[in-house]
Amino acid sequence: MRHTPLEPSQTDAVAVTATAEVRITAVGHTYRVGDGEVLSGIDLNIGAGEVVALIGRSGSGKSTLLHIIAGLLEPSEGVVHIGNERVTGPSAAWVMMFQAPSLFPWMTVAENAGLGLRYSGQKEGVDDRVAEVLDLVDLSAFSDRNVQDLSGGQQQRVALARSLAPNPDVLLLDEPFSALDMFTRQSMQQDVRAITKRLGLTMVLVTHDVSEAALMADRAVFLKSGSGKIVGDTPVGLAPKARDLNNPDFQAELARLNGIYSQMQTQC
Ligand SMILES: Nc1ncnc2c1ncn2[C@@H]1O[C@H](COP(=O)(O)OP(=O)(O)OP(=O)(O)O)[C@@H](O)[C@H]1O
Ligand SMILES: [Mg+2]
Repeated sequence: MRHTPLEPSQTDAVAVTATAEVRITAVGHTYRVGDGEVLSGIDLNIGAGEVVALIGRSGSGKSTLLHIIAGLLEPSEGVVHIGNERVTGPSAAWVMMFQAPSLFPWMTVAENAGLGLRYSGQKEGVDDRVAEVLDLVDLSAFSDRNVQDLSGGQQQRVALARSLAPNPDVLLLDEPFSALDMFTRQSMQQDVRAITKRLGLTMVLVTHDVSEAALMADRAVFLKSGSGKIVGDTPVGLAPKARDLNNPDFQAELARLNGIYSQMQTQC
């Protein structure tokens, strides 16, 4: 299995019709009466085709906000729109990828990748679409293999292929690479950004790892523990070729983002 990232020039530069914007308006959330607000007065507009990283410490409400965007959790207050639709539940147009790839171990790579399509009742063209998405995630050669025989990184690629098969507008990622080793993680981070840009997807990525945000995102949004509020919002100013851990521009941008993150932790 090659782990060479896709060439940046193949990716960010490709102009694709951008899909859906995500608009989060006055969102607040309390899990239990008597508990404090986990999220409070969240207003955030994410442009069509934009990649936003939600950064914050453990317990700051990142997953809660992502679940609300995905329609998996109804907010106590406020609304989310994706494109022209108000989010009231899950949809094939906005798909979520979790840390565990959640594949069916007795099925092949192709069968797992086609699951979302088959569950949605699609019968025609499934095999062709599966072949397309497996090619996109660089797993064509593994199509007939059992997923149990794949590495953790390859299994995440299958999960990504399964998410992409229904042709979503928005991809929502909740720390999906944190179980992978450093090299596999960087290759996945670069490839997922590349694929997202190639397809014109809007992406929201939850992470507590600032370098992941710098590698993958166009914009970094900081959530503060305890307050449930957004306390920082900054563009990630990196050329496609600079999105590499060893690039000096990357190091400088990472230092700037880390500076904002640590300043944010000490703010009242
Ligand atoms: N189902 C739930 N019921 C009650 N409280 C919850 C529930 N899920 C999360 N919480 C609480 O809400 C707060 C925010 O949790 P959330 O999972 O959104 O944080 P997070 O930023 O994703 O953290 P991590 O980085 O550890 O994943 C935490 O205090 C958590 O204990
Ligand atoms: Mg979380």
